[in-house]
Amino acid sequence: MNILGIESSCDETSAAVVADGTRILSNIVASQVEIHARYGGIVPEVASRQHLIAFVTTIQETLSQAQISWSELAAIAVTVGPGLVGSLLVGVNLAKAIALARHLPLIGINHLEGHIYAHWLEGNNPPAFPALCLIASGGHTELVVMRGHGQYQPLGRTRDDAAGEAFDKVARLLGLGYPGGPVIETAARTVTTVPITLPRAWLKGSDDFSFSGLKTAVLRLIQKAEPKAAILAASFQEAVVDVLVTKTVAAAKKHRVKEILLAGGVATNETLRRHMASHSPIPVRCPSPALCTDNAAMIAACGYFHLKAGQIAGWDLDVAPNLMLR
Ligand code: KG4
Ligand code: ZN
Repeated sequence: MNILGIESSCDETSAAVVADGTRILSNIVASQVEIHARYGGIVPEVASRQHLIAFVTTIQETLSQAQISWSELAAIAVTVGPGLVGSLLVGVNLAKAIALARHLPLIGINHLEGHIYAHWLEGNNPPAFPALCLIASGGHTELVVMRGHGQYQPLGRTRDDAAGEAFDKVARLLGLGYPGGPVIETAARTVTTVPITLPRAWLKGSDDFSFSGLKTAVLRLIQKAEPKAAILAASFQEAVVDVLVTKTVAAAKKHRVKEILLAGGVATNETLRRHMASHSPIPVRCPSPALCTDNAAMIAACGYFHLKAGQIAGWDLDVAPNLMLR
């Protein structure tokens, strides 16, 4: 059963075809990174207009690469939130138009749930439940126990900056460019020892996170004109990874989960992947980097499980910029 996935929650215009929720036939991502890099971050209006410009050719390309025709699609799955309202509106309106014209079921997907479903696209050995998901992206840092398809128990989330947002802000402070994650990771690789221990917000007794104090600590050191950017980048990355790994592993043990599933753009970070795997007695899964960052294949995969559960949207489907996972 082929599902067309449509994703436009932020700055990636993406369309994909996934068979049976597990097999990627095509996954096209038209990145806007170069456009937004000029501004040092995402400009929402520019993002929505870019989706408008790029979507039709992205869809044509994804169908052609999948080598299927419109009549071979079983449903359309589209991200409804969380995300930028203008960007979401472009994707949802497009999905409605296709569903209406082709008489196909329309499925609204929570972007955060989509990130988790990247794991179903990695071979034929799906995750075992219960699983603990750490979703760390530019907009979110969430710890959620997944007890079955569509069954979520949120444990904690960030109280201020998301982990990816902290990477982006610190990279800007250090003059390293945008997006922050990859440039900080590259700068940190040039440092062999990590000389500065930056503060960690443990928020003891809670599964929540906080990264804004860490960003301020970096700013103070820059104002004192002390260490080099690469040393600060490595120290910052080490502090974020330490908090994410320690809190995730503790929650995984407490809730006796069978697996830990990393998801979201920050999950491409090699130091995070390595430390999580080496500090956890519970198996850790990381999707391939291209499936960690925003893409429509994860939305189509998630859509398949919604379709199987009979969860179809009506024509009044709306966007939900502040949607949560519950
Ligand atoms: O999941 P994603 O593509 O989009 C959102 O849903 O937000 O995540 C993007 C975020 C950005 O903040 C980016 O800096 C971060 O993921 N990121 C990384 C890395 N690659 C991307 N953070 C740390 N290390 C990386 N290698
Ligand atoms: Zn995302």
